[in-house]
Amino acid sequence: MDLLVNNAGFGLRDPFASSAVDDEQRLLDVLVTAPMRLTHAVLPQMVERGRGAVVNVASVAAYTPRGTYGAAKAWLLSFSRSLHVELRGRGVTVTAVAPGFVHTEFHSRMRVSKDGIPRVLWLRPEYVVRATLRAAARRRMVTIPSLRYRLIVALARLAPAPWAAAGTLTPR
Ligand SMILES: NC(=O)c1ccc[n+]([C@@H]2O[C@H](COP(=O)([O-])OP(=O)(O)OC[C@H]3O[C@@H](n4cnc5c(N)ncnc54)[C@H](OP(=O)(O)O)[C@@H]3O)[C@@H](O)[C@H]2O)c1
Repeated sequence: MDLLVNNAGFGLRDPFASSAVDDEQRLLDVLVTAPMRLTHAVLPQMVERGRGAVVNVASVAAYTPRGTYGAAKAWLLSFSRSLHVELRGRGVTVTAVAPGFVHTEFHSRMRVSKDGIPRVLWLRPEYVVRATLRAAARRRMVTIPSLRYRLIVALARLAPAPWAAAGTLTPR
């Protein structure tokens, strides 16, 4: 395999104190365990051939205190960065993408409203995919599609935690 994309994911609507622990476990299974195991399964062959790429779909939520979803995406981001460094010079590259809001089924499946999210913050999936594949081809460690989200992330990293967590999604 030349390219592995760890993309599967979903979000939980309820805050941690009132969520079902089985849902929290399912979240970790999909967002953390699955990418770890899939990456572990393909890397030995990639390294042996000296060729291959892994793309991990994280989120800007990785840079903010946004529940267990943000925590899991922070794990994926850190995992990607660590592997990127570990594999440097061996022909195999690992790239994390941290998108902001993207027009997909994500929010309807999560049963949260999209109404409060300003239009300017929405990205098209085609744009995110193109930016991601370009970043992987250039062997980038992390990519944040769009200038506006690069600015948001830069500010979120400096802001106090309650500010960085602003804009919590509301249930439908
Ligand atoms: N949309 C956003 O605003 C946004 C922002 C940042 C990051 N992301 C991340 O982008 C990735 C893709 O999400 P999306 O926006 O494309 O949402 P989506 O339209 O809801 O698609 C989610 C994808 O994940 C798969 N999936 C979900 N739960 C699964 C499970 N238990 N086992 C196997 N596959 C599962 C789905 O497969 P099925 O269709 O077969 O169920 C689907 O292909 C996710 O990792 C998400 O966290 C999304």
